[in-house]
Amino acid sequence: MRLVVFWLPILTNALVVPVNKRTVATRRSAATLKRTEAPPLDVKNEAPPVDDATAAETDRSHGFAEGPSVAFWQKYAPPAEGGIGNLRAAAAKALQSGAKGADAMRYYGYHLARATFFAGQGAAGVLAYQASASSAPYRGDPATTEPSKGPPRSPAFELPILVDTMGALFAEAVATYEQDFGEVQKGTFPLPWDMVDGVRNRQTSPLFLADQARRYVNEAISILTKRNRRDPGDFGVPYGGNADLYPDYYLNNFHFQTDGWLSSDSAKLYETSTETLFLGRQDSMQRLALYPIRSWAATDDFKVLEVACGTGRLNTFLRDAYPRMDVSAVDLSPFYLEEARGHAKRWEAFRRRTQPSQRVGTAKFAQANAEKLPQADESVDVVVNVYLFHELPHEARRAAAAEMARVCKPGGLVVWVDSVQTGDRPALDATLGNFQYLNEPHYPTYINEDVGALFMEAGLEPFEKHTSSTSKCLSFVKPCAADDDYCLTKVA
Ligand SMILES: C[S@@+](CC[C@H](N)C(=O)[O-])C[C@H]1O[C@@H](n2cnc3c(N)ncnc32)[C@H](O)[C@@H]1O
Repeated sequence: MRLVVFWLPILTNALVVPVNKRTVATRRSAATLKRTEAPPLDVKNEAPPVDDATAAETDRSHGFAEGPSVAFWQKYAPPAEGGIGNLRAAAAKALQSGAKGADAMRYYGYHLARATFFAGQGAAGVLAYQASASSAPYRGDPATTEPSKGPPRSPAFELPILVDTMGALFAEAVATYEQDFGEVQKGTFPLPWDMVDGVRNRQTSPLFLADQARRYVNEAISILTKRNRRDPGDFGVPYGGNADLYPDYYLNNFHFQTDGWLSSDSAKLYETSTETLFLGRQDSMQRLALYPIRSWAATDDFKVLEVACGTGRLNTFLRDAYPRMDVSAVDLSPFYLEEARGHAKRWEAFRRRTQPSQRVGTAKFAQANAEKLPQADESVDVVVNVYLFHELPHEARRAAAAEMARVCKPGGLVVWVDSVQTGDRPALDATLGNFQYLNEPHYPTYINEDVGALFMEAGLEPFEKHTSSTSKCLSFVKPCAADDDYCLTKVA
């Protein structure tokens, strides 16, 4: 059962992301594009195993203050045996929680509708792949993670497995929403603004949804085909631009995402893909970043830098929680930055409609490498980084951590969110590494990486740790100099 629960997310991830051949990150014609092979794992470059401790044990040894979510998810197990039992339990829990007032009803209604949409979209992607001419038999065994010598099989298409997995995922989604809504009630952040925006938000437009579903299903066929046939030619990004701008590891089509990070089609598909993968949990997991900021922030008037902001969805939740703050956001993909600017404008329009008299801080987006940030030393109060490290080799993780520490002001906060690692969800440990087989070459070292040490070597001190479903958040403060009377930190 455990294997099944972990396997379908991987499968649904394989259904995820961008479509066929289209706009690539270059103005050159497709004929001039050369395929950049995915970089092979460079073992010398990867983190050496330190000892037998899990990453969670290492986090604890560093002394992060652990929020209650850490223990909750360490012990978490689906509430029932089997898919139907879990679906029933999830529905009962959501109804019970949703009945606790008007906000709760809106919150759960909205989130369950989203989760159901993404579940339907994921199933449509699998079925479309199955019906497609390119449908290739799976050449590996997801249970052992080794290429299979037995006859090809497609376990994901077996109905009982699908039901079991969907049931478990729905139950986990409801547990994630309970935590997220609990934080709204505590005042950690407001109700999600896109939900409050209601029918004005583009995500409720049938045309927008149909376009997203079309893109998703096309991409599901492409990704499943690549994943299943395991053809070396399916790795890497066809790229004809300035390769000096992009590190080798960047020119990989992570999880077989068409064009990698380098096309507008990829950027337009990213969120619907990842939310399908997570059955609508991604927004709530990303809002983990707001937990330590609430503990740290004495005002709502500070400067934030988001590193590797992607399409900038979290950026809108950050701004919605702290509307007066000035935010800078960087990413290496110009296409993802373009999406992020679009989100920023939609959020600003929402604020003008709902709170016209309140001042809103500025937002600036720029193309930059996390390993070489353009910001000056000690120039921002809060640095946020979400879902980057699992796609970096060890040395790049170290360099990015050092850069985030460098630009953070004394007394400031660095907030890091990414996938859970070993020991964060012990029930998943045995299968956690399987994600590498979906063209995630740095995942095996990521899951044991001592992330705390990377930031502490750069001069930061551990602050808080939180977990939400399959994501974790570590945060750090930059100590003040002993003679600096103006440096304020809650931790000093
Ligand atoms: C998995 S996505 C996460 C995006 C966003 N933070 C989110 O959570 O939705 C990874 C992002 O990191 C960016 N990225 C990868 N390597 C980078 C680097 N060295 N510097 C800056 N951005 C990078 C990619 O362009 C992509 O937008």
